[in-house]
Amino acid sequence: MPVMRSVFYVPGNNESFIKKAPTLPADIITLDLEDSVPPAEKAKAREMVRENLKFAGSGGSAVYVRVNNWETLMTNDDLEAVVHEGLSGICLAKCGHPDDVRRLDWKLEELERRRGLPVGSIAVQLLCETAKGVINAYPSAIASKRVNSLIFGAVDYTKDMRVKLTSEGVEQFYARSHVAVAARAAGCIAIDCPFVAFQDVEAFEKSTREGRQMGYEGRMLIHPNQIEPANRIYAPSPEDIEWAQGVVKVFEEEGIAKGAAAVSYKGKMVDTPVYENARTILKTVEEINAFEQKRKKNG
Ligand code: COA
Ligand code: MG
Repeated sequence: MPVMRSVFYVPGNNESFIKKAPTLPADIITLDLEDSVPPAEKAKAREMVRENLKFAGSGGSAVYVRVNNWETLMTNDDLEAVVHEGLSGICLAKCGHPDDVRRLDWKLEELERRRGLPVGSIAVQLLCETAKGVINAYPSAIASKRVNSLIFGAVDYTKDMRVKLTSEGVEQFYARSHVAVAARAAGCIAIDCPFVAFQDVEAFEKSTREGRQMGYEGRMLIHPNQIEPANRIYAPSPEDIEWAQGVVKVFEEEGIAKGAAAVSYKGKMVDTPVYENARTILKTVEEINAFEQKRKKNG
């Protein structure tokens, strides 16, 4: 699975922010053409983003671009401008229906062919951030093989639901849970919502840990001070790794080798799903280490 602990947003019209991108240790840098760019600046932002695709990834992060949703009539222009070498994925804002994804898939294939890029190489990430988008998260996620992740977008979601956005997030509970389950059901990575109170790092960490327990494996971030905590919280902790190594050892030596399917470790039952979960943790560690090595080499 790709490593997506930190999905960091940079407004596509902000030159000084874009200049910082290669210095930030985010797994993904997303150059935004949607709501952080005012309508009058969209054309300028498309140019700026196109010119900076390779630069933004020069520190070793993967580069995605968030495009405006189809209803705005801007999606086509956004895609025409940014599907070039250096782009790893497109994030579709306000995805509402699997048809939105199919349309994006076809357009990406056309642009990949026209630009001489390998067909299927541009990944798709969906923002589920309306009531309709949340309800349709699973069918949207399976509408194209390109979809590798779903983001729950709390800011637009609370607007659509006509409720207040809070740091505690009780108003998001159902939708946040739903998007995480839909993502996993589709074999995708679940990316948690932005946390707008960016100066309150303690509350950010608490909320991120809660989301992690719901199944989120990364978070959409808006401020540089959220990157380090996200990279730390979504990586297995030293205690998680020690537990996973212990579980694997005891299950293989006392279970598999001796014909038992349930064994005991530190006072708790370990059976096949617990063993497989432990192996997933160790695999995640390997994937993160490989990604960090690659970043060091490329960055
Ligand atoms: N990308 C790159 N650099 C950023 C950044 C971002 N998204 N957000 C902040 N920074 C930089 C600032 O330029 C500043 O750098 P400096 O110390 O060299 O001057 C430093 O980080 C600290 O920034 P700070 O002063 O605390 O924040 P701010 O008031 O400049 O900006 C926001 C606050 C919320 C406006 C800004 O973080 C932002 O625009 N975030 C992204 C918003 C977005 O993409 N929204 C759409 C998705 S929900
Ligand atoms: Mg939004």
